[in-house]
Amino acid sequence: MLKTVPGENGLPWLGQTLAFMRNCNQLYETMYQRHGAVYFNRFLGQKAVHLLSPEGNEFVLLDRDKNFSSRLAWNRSLKELFPNGLMLRDGDDHRFHRRLMGAPFKSDALALYVDAMNPDIDAAVQAWSQRSPFLFYPAIKELTLDLATKIFVGESLSDEANDVNTSFVDLVNAAMVIVRYPMLGNKYQRGLAGRAYLEEHFGSRIEARRKSAYNPSEADMFTEICRAQSDEGEGFSDQDIIDHMIFLMMAAHDTTTSSLSSVCFALAKHPQWQDKLREEHAAVENNSVSYAQLGDMQLTGLVFKEALRLYPPLPTIPRHAIRDCEFEGYAIKRGEQVHVSPYFTHRLASIWKDPQCFDPLRFDKQRAEDKIHRHAYIPFGGGAHKCLGLKFAELQVKQVLFHLLRYYQLEVPTDYEMPYQPAPIGKPSDALPLSLKTLG
Ligand code: HEM
Repeated sequence: MLKTVPGENGLPWLGQTLAFMRNCNQLYETMYQRHGAVYFNRFLGQKAVHLLSPEGNEFVLLDRDKNFSSRLAWNRSLKELFPNGLMLRDGDDHRFHRRLMGAPFKSDALALYVDAMNPDIDAAVQAWSQRSPFLFYPAIKELTLDLATKIFVGESLSDEANDVNTSFVDLVNAAMVIVRYPMLGNKYQRGLAGRAYLEEHFGSRIEARRKSAYNPSEADMFTEICRAQSDEGEGFSDQDIIDHMIFLMMAAHDTTTSSLSSVCFALAKHPQWQDKLREEHAAVENNSVSYAQLGDMQLTGLVFKEALRLYPPLPTIPRHAIRDCEFEGYAIKRGEQVHVSPYFTHRLASIWKDPQCFDPLRFDKQRAEDKIHRHAYIPFGGGAHKCLGLKFAELQVKQVLFHLLRYYQLEVPTDYEMPYQPAPIGKPSDALPLSLKTLG
């Protein structure tokens, strides 16, 4: 006899949404203490079943028995503004698109993106010394958007690049609103207009990108996707390319911005780690770092991992049950929304030593706490939908740190703690006031 999943409905319609936004750590802890690692609650009128253990992560993300749909889960929030992105596809259709989407993420392409990003990151970071007071979150958001327009779209420093940026910002802002009804120039209407602009922008350039002469010293994701072909010579349709490009920019932007904010907050709180990273970065002799050199930066990689453990940009990952199924004796019903939680499993005391402490060395080869269970550490998800951009994200974060720490000591008052807003993508709710002290 299967057990019924225990849980709480919370407030009418809102359920536990407000409690989650106020302090997701506390809500997870309370619900875990009351109900255990399998429970349900409600968010914005929807029932959500939560599986909080590494075993739950594996059950949902690997999905060996094909119980879950990523498409139906993400369609709820992303269908109108970001239709047909990779996360909004399942099964064979997803496999086909994912394989073709591999081209822009190969190591030779990544190495070219790194080379292209150096001067822009260096210039932007240097200019930050002029800003006072300095809020890290909007500054890094602006930089990652400019980089995305250059690296993803292949355009920079033009009126069109500015229009791409503005349209994209409107589109992403629209994805955050609760009232999804376009009227009188509201955020949702501006988001739809942004999408229409981007559709036209990408659509009108596809043919030229497909035919453009191959230049091995230049690369942008848009051109790579236009040219991508399967072994059988099949490529993407124009609409596929448009949908993938718009989705890709969204998937990359706020996540990287979020992780850079968490990394820089952690470094400001733990200045000894800034010294260690500067020592590591000293192996690079000039102000241009290469793909290979970033790969050698082991400690910087550990700091990135640890910041993502404490502050995963996606604190929760949803799926939609497409069949009745069972997890550890509990009945999960067809049609239910099922969530796994990077945020909670990343703080489980049974896996992580002093889980609330920032301790990058927990990931080194000797301790390897993340290897205790294959699905204990899931900032990038797992299984078929595991983040396609994880390597790019790591490179970009390391590269920004390399440039930033050359010029500045990052500081926050000793009693400062970053207030973390968990949804829709985790971020500092105070925009992260950080002091940048110019190094002598
Ligand atoms: C630290 C930064 C990032 C984090 C934490 C992150 C996290 C994630 C997670 C958790 C998923 C899986 C969602 C699910 O299973 O439902 C995902 C999927 C995805 N991410 Fe990322 N991401 C990051 C950066 C990026 C970047 C930079 C790109 C592109 C350049 C990117 C592109 C994608 C794509 C295309 C998918 C969908 C994969 C699929 O469905 O097959 N991400 N990401």
